[in-house]
Amino acid sequence: MTRSPKILVFDSGLGGLTVFSEIAKIRPNAEFVYCADDAGFPYGSWGEPELAARILAVMAAQIDEHEPDIVVIACNTASTLALPQLRARWPGVLFVGTVPAIKPAAAMSRTKLISVLATPGTVARDYTQKLIQEFAGGCAVTLVGSKHLAKLAESAIHGEEIADGAIASEIASCFVQRDGARTDVIVLACTHYPLLQESFARLAPWPVDWIDSAPAIARRADQVLVENLGPDAPNGDAPRRRAIFTSGAAPSESLAATLTRYGLPAA
Ligand code: DGL
Repeated sequence: MTRSPKILVFDSGLGGLTVFSEIAKIRPNAEFVYCADDAGFPYGSWGEPELAARILAVMAAQIDEHEPDIVVIACNTASTLALPQLRARWPGVLFVGTVPAIKPAAAMSRTKLISVLATPGTVARDYTQKLIQEFAGGCAVTLVGSKHLAKLAESAIHGEEIADGAIASEIASCFVQRDGARTDVIVLACTHYPLLQESFARLAPWPVDWIDSAPAIARRADQVLVENLGPDAPNGDAPRRRAIFTSGAAPSESLAATLTRYGLPAA
């Protein structure tokens, strides 16, 4: 069967736009619903049982309403916690998650000092520990759970100025020097962080490779769609796209303009 799929992209806020825009490049004809659980943002500081229940409740409402072919959980904090539960609850829906890109970071690093910059939730997950054990055996991995970066990124995308010092202090502990070697790869393990990547690069004490997994997540989503529904195919109408905010709040003028730049009119 070849038809345009309906893709639901989900995040706690607007970080998932970094993933949405990569998927939209590969699947320009798909129908998209972008759902931001802004009423629950930020996810990084929630307790695990409460957050899992929240994600399942929001997903239940979104899946009932939109009946997507595939759900892309464009959030590391949610994926590392709730992916197995989501797949078990909706066996007929395809799910693609976003988890810290520890395997490519370990393969890419020459100094074998890598850092994972994520939310406090993601660094505390068993899932993240398992990724390190499985794929980063030869590396020293520094986990940095940032309390403020997701909020700073969210403010930036809402058009606010962010002071360099606020960003620099959140990324500082990613940079480790040991026995004459320095961190050379940092995993951006929160989908909000690529929104600040230019500032990170400018404020870094030395140059490193920053890994943004959005292009890889988009390729994975496309592959799952090809296997299950077929390749992207033009449809007669302009592709339908909308953004939904669980708070029900209408986006500000500046946010509406940003969403439009992303090719995503607010509903
Ligand atoms: N964008 C989310 C992630 O990838 C988390 C941001 C938050 O809600 O704390 O982890």
